[in-house]
Order: sequence, then structure tokens, then C-alpha cells
Amino acid sequence: MSEASDQSSGPVTTGTVKPRVLSGIQPTADSFHLGNYLGALRQWVALQDTHDAFYCVVDLHAITVRHDPAALRRRTRVAAAQLLAMGLDPDRATIFVQSQVPEHTELAWVLGCLTGFGEAGRMTQFKDKSAKQGATGTTVGLFTYPILQAADILLYSPEPGPGERALRVPVGEDQRQHLELTRTLAQRFNHRFGDTFVLPDASIIEGAAKITDLQEPTAKMSKSASSPQGIIDVLEEPGPMRKKIMRAVTDTGTEVRFDEEGKAGIANLLRIYSALEGVSIADLERRYEGSGYGRFKKDLAALVVDTFTPIRERTLKLLDDQDGLDRILADGAGRAGAVARRTMEVVRDRVGFAGRALDR
Ligand code: AMP
Ligand code: TRP
Repeated sequence: MSEASDQSSGPVTTGTVKPRVLSGIQPTADSFHLGNYLGALRQWVALQDTHDAFYCVVDLHAITVRHDPAALRRRTRVAAAQLLAMGLDPDRATIFVQSQVPEHTELAWVLGCLTGFGEAGRMTQFKDKSAKQGATGTTVGLFTYPILQAADILLYSPEPGPGERALRVPVGEDQRQHLELTRTLAQRFNHRFGDTFVLPDASIIEGAAKITDLQEPTAKMSKSASSPQGIIDVLEEPGPMRKKIMRAVTDTGTEVRFDEEGKAGIANLLRIYSALEGVSIADLERRYEGSGYGRFKKDLAALVVDTFTPIRERTLKLLDDQDGLDRILADGAGRAGAVARRTMEVVRDRVGFAGRALDR
């Protein structure tokens, strides 16, 4: 991370030297899971110290598949509360709800008009999700989902030019293609209308990037695909959490050794352990040499419970004070909106929209 970042002040002031970071997560479950935490959210927390950080709960993305309004509202608050409970600090990072900043949809329209139909059709996440939804369940919103994501990112692009700041986007491996599309669209916009956006960098977290299902260790841990036994929720009680780790599928061997092909279950548990404790997999292999799977799983279960218990407790406390939580989010939306509005003023002008007389 850059040394210059230490000299910076508040979270949204322009002209600071901190590189910017932006990411989003969907409020589509009643809890985040271990894969979200290790693949993305933990990095968000770390990056707030060195970056000018913007993190959004992407509720507009959550309605690309059929949803229940009451559940969406509840999950949006639960998502925000978990982010705060994991250590995001609203004084250092701008935490907001996507739908509270209407510029996201506005920029998405403009970018959609720069996206080829075939180009959007090549997004593998769309192909996967639309296959699951079937012909009638697949909406145009699901198709244009990555364009809205590009808008989420580019709205917070620092100004290009001399002394240009970076724009980092920490996400899991599965989002690489959407980031590539975002870069392509930024480049296309810049080329057609003049330098406006900095091209974002995906910061994919190596090693911990892909956590797999505890029951089906060759498949990704995922709220939509995993059975409850295969997934560890951040807000889960310690009892079930422990049980799930003890019952995680392994193999008929006894050796705690990293072998992705031959021992996918153990490899996944080693990845989780290593990421949570901050020790190398090689060290863990040495630590558990000759000890069998039982002790290894028991220690890992304790580690997972110790990591998530304080987060669960803080989340529940934050949810108890809904007004307080909503105020934090309104403040975040105010700060994000100020940046988004500035970007949109430039975009509108470059695209050729005639300004309203009132604005002049
Ligand atoms: P999702 O809940 O699938 O929308 O994902 C939210 C964030 O968590 C994204 O950045 C994903 O890439 C990341 N993520 C989701 N599932 C996993 C997983 N099993 N392992 C690692 N990262 C994940
Ligand atoms: N599509 C991302 C996911 O599924 C969520 C997301 C929406 C996002 N907008 C974003 C991630 C902007 C990074 C930046 O995880």
C-alpha cells in the first residue's frame, strides 16, 4: 500500500493522496457466509486504513431475481450492520445503500448504451443465473446487472490526469469478468467522450479467494447453491457452526495435507484455517502431522467460532438501534452522493445532454 496514504484526511475529500477503493455486496441473505468474509469482506476492512473507501450494499442488484420487499429491507439493514460489526468504521469509510444514490441507475443507462448486446451476453454469471431462473424468470435486469456494477464502480472513479489515483475493487475471483467489462466500458467512454474515468483494478485475494462447500468441497460455498450443512453463516450460533465443521466432508485418509485434487475437503479446511489464523498452509501441515482429522477440525471449529461470535454480537446490537443504523447509512449516502453527483455532471456534459437552465 502506498506510503503517501498516511498523509490523507477525511473519507471523501478530493485532492487527498489516498488511492480509492470501492466494492459492493448484495443483501440477498439473512447473513453473510464464510466465503463472503474470506473472499471479500475481510479485505474491505483492511483497506479502509490505507484507502479512501466506498462500500455499498447493492440492493438494486438484489432485485434482478424475484424478491420479497420486506425481506429485502431487512436484509439490507442486516448486511450493513454486519459490515459495521466486522470493523468498517463510518468515520473512515463511506458505507451506503446503492438505491439511496440514484446516480447509480443513471450512469448504468449511459453505460448500457455503450455495451454491445453480444458483449453482455458473454457474461458467465448471467449464463449461470439465467439457466437457473429459466426463460420466464430471467429478467432484463439480470442481463444488465454487470452494467449496473460498472456504474457502481465508475461513479467513484477519481479524476484521471496528472497525479492520477488508483481505483481498486476488491472482489472474489468470480467477479473478474465483470471487472474486465467495467474496464472496457471505461476505456470506451474515455475514447469516445474524452478522459473521464480511471480504469479500475480488480484486487482478487489470492489463496483465500475461493472457499468451497463443506459438504461438496469441489463446489463454491454459495448461499444459492449450498445446502445449509455446506455453508457457515457469519451470524450462526456457535453450536451449529462447530457441528458443521466437525461434519465437513473429507476423505478416507488421515493425513492433513494440502492436495486440491485428491483431498478437496481437507484442502478447503486448510485454506480457511490459514486465512483466519494468518499462518501458512505448510505450517498447519506440520502442526497437524500425524494427528488425524479430529483434532484439526476441532481446532478449526474453535477458531471459526472465536472469529464470528463477536461479529454476531455486535451485529445484533446494531440492529437493536434501527434509527441509529439508518442514520449511519443516510450519512454514507450523503457522502457517496456528493461524489456521484460530481461524476454525473461531467458525464452528462461529455455525453451531450443539454443542462437545465436552473443548473446554470
Ligand atoms: P455473493 O454473495 O455471491 O454475491 O458474493 C459476495 C462477495 O463474496 C463477492 O465478492 C464474491 O466474489 C465473494 N464470494 C462469494 N462466495 C465466495 C466463496 N465461496 N469464496 C470466496 N469468495 C466468495
Ligand atoms: N456483483 C458483485 C457480486 O456479486 C456485487 C457488486 C455490485 C459489486 N456492484 C459492485 C462488487 C461494485 C464490486 C463493485 O459480488
